[in-house]
Amino acid sequence: MCGIIGYAGDESAVPIIVDGLKKLEYRGYDSAGIAVFTKDSFKVVKQKGRLVGLEERLENTTITSNMGIGHTRWATHGEPSDVNSHPHLGSGSKIAVVHNGIIENYKQLKAQLERRGVKFVSQTDSEVVAQLAEYYYNGNLLDTVIKTANALEGSYALGIMCLEEPDVLVAVKKDNPLIVGVSEKGNFIASDVPAILKHTNQVFYLEDKEIAVLTKRAVQFFNMDKELLTKQIETITWSVDSAEKGGYPHFMLKEIVEQPKVLCDTIQSEIIKIPDITSFNKIVITACGSAYNAGVVSKYVFERLCRFPSIEVELASEFRYKDACVDEKTLVILVSQSGETADTIAAMREAKTKGAITLSIVNVVGSTLAKEADYTVYTAAGPEIAVATTKAFSTQLVVLYKLAVKFAVQLQKISADEGRKLSDEIASIPDKVAEILTKIDFIQKYASTCIGYKSIFFIGRNIDYAIALEGSLKLKEISYIHSEAYAGGELKHGTISLVEENTLVVAISCCQRLYSKIFSNIEQVISRGAKVFLVSNVEAAEETDKLSLLKLPNIHELFSPSLSVIVLQLFSYYVAANKGLDIDKPRNLAKSVTVE
Ligand code: AGP
Ligand code: GLU
Repeated sequence: MCGIIGYAGDESAVPIIVDGLKKLEYRGYDSAGIAVFTKDSFKVVKQKGRLVGLEERLENTTITSNMGIGHTRWATHGEPSDVNSHPHLGSGSKIAVVHNGIIENYKQLKAQLERRGVKFVSQTDSEVVAQLAEYYYNGNLLDTVIKTANALEGSYALGIMCLEEPDVLVAVKKDNPLIVGVSEKGNFIASDVPAILKHTNQVFYLEDKEIAVLTKRAVQFFNMDKELLTKQIETITWSVDSAEKGGYPHFMLKEIVEQPKVLCDTIQSEIIKIPDITSFNKIVITACGSAYNAGVVSKYVFERLCRFPSIEVELASEFRYKDACVDEKTLVILVSQSGETADTIAAMREAKTKGAITLSIVNVVGSTLAKEADYTVYTAAGPEIAVATTKAFSTQLVVLYKLAVKFAVQLQKISADEGRKLSDEIASIPDKVAEILTKIDFIQKYASTCIGYKSIFFIGRNIDYAIALEGSLKLKEISYIHSEAYAGGELKHGTISLVEENTLVVAISCCQRLYSKIFSNIEQVISRGAKVFLVSNVEAAEETDKLSLLKLPNIHELFSPSLSVIVLQLFSYYVAANKGLDIDKPRNLAKSVTVE
């Protein structure tokens, strides 16, 4: 994953690079490092661990420089260590490189270079880029980068500097994101917008195998044949505040609280271009992690409203290798916050190869999924920084509901009037979410009593089961408590053997018609010693000494996951907060999984 940044301008480079890395730390935090130009050499400071360690080291030094690159790492090749941290230098310290991605043929390239006497110091795949570029360097960094990129297999976003060209910073990418920002005070490269938003909202999105050559006054773009390219500049509409914590202890809490607003923005933005569903006979929804869970929820909605013969939900990492039965009569829907998840991109490309039509639901404008899919609908969640998704997930749900309603009308399974009524119900979600947020204190207090549980199960039936999957994922991601989600009716087929004293069962019940069924499951687990937290809007639901209840506002059953998930997010957040964990950056995870 990793985050990379680079700056060439009039200002002091180190604070700009370090500040940018803070905004990219969600992409990885195994190590952090910078390389900047000083008078006649590169000054490299890098070390294992969080960025804060690097910052402390830099506080005691004064580095005068107007150009440099920085990196925050999620290790793929070589353990997290000082020597494996980026930037990497060539043996002669002439070339400095930061890399996001995986160089798949690094072993062969390394062996070739070693045979020619080049000495490697790290175990990373990335060092080979620095060594190769230095080996190839012929007095022109652009030529060298083209030659180097042509030799690389795999994925990369690279920032490269050369000691002999102190004014030039070169960037190139393939299958990993990279943007170029321009401003009066200098020019930037970055993995993502928040890293440079403080300085500019004017950006170029680099396409695969495009090269950007930056100096402090200008930016030029080239293709691999060294032809000059004319690229379109884009204006980012996100505000700077949206990428800051704004007084909240964690981004995750801020992002949960922002939900009424971003839901409203997403609901109000018109879905302009979608395919005619009547020309398809199959829908496949594919995604990873929480985005996959949004897909599972939506399957219930599509099925109920569209009565469509074939609707499948598939993990993108499975879809890509299963030789899926899709063709030009299949609509493949890809759901992703980042638009850069490697498995989801591969699933889209696989689907396209087989002739399927693709529609992506994406939060990040200009991302790979947004650009390559046949149709794209954006969620309006704004930048999401916490690794555990909350607001992006919620906006994915409402886009999927809106699509299901549109498709149901196209298929004449519901009338235009029924469609309007359902749309009104969707439009009521933001206010109801705001109402749930007034119960934060109750959830916080309740969660503080739950940190001692060894295991927490989530159960529900029908669409309540689908959202239970997300509740369970959220909890394990950030609290490190073991958790599983089960369909209520499935407990008796095996899972109930895990229920004992010191087990908490979170039950979700917003399907009025199935309340008595889930309540039987609740009684079964209570009689085996479990405590229950029930999240429900069913009239009959009541508290007992073994059961705590959080009542939700009423809403159409199909859209109820948008309400219950808010409680599940807050519950996970406060369990993790009470355990004193690093909520925004849970161990071993990173926000965008741009590698396999
Ligand atoms: C959610 O909390 C996760 N961190 C993760 O499961 C995420 O949803 C998944 O990696 C997909 O990411 P995407 O939406 O950017 O494609
Ligand atoms: N492969 C590189 C490393 O392990 C970069 C990792 C990444 O971009 O995720 O250092």
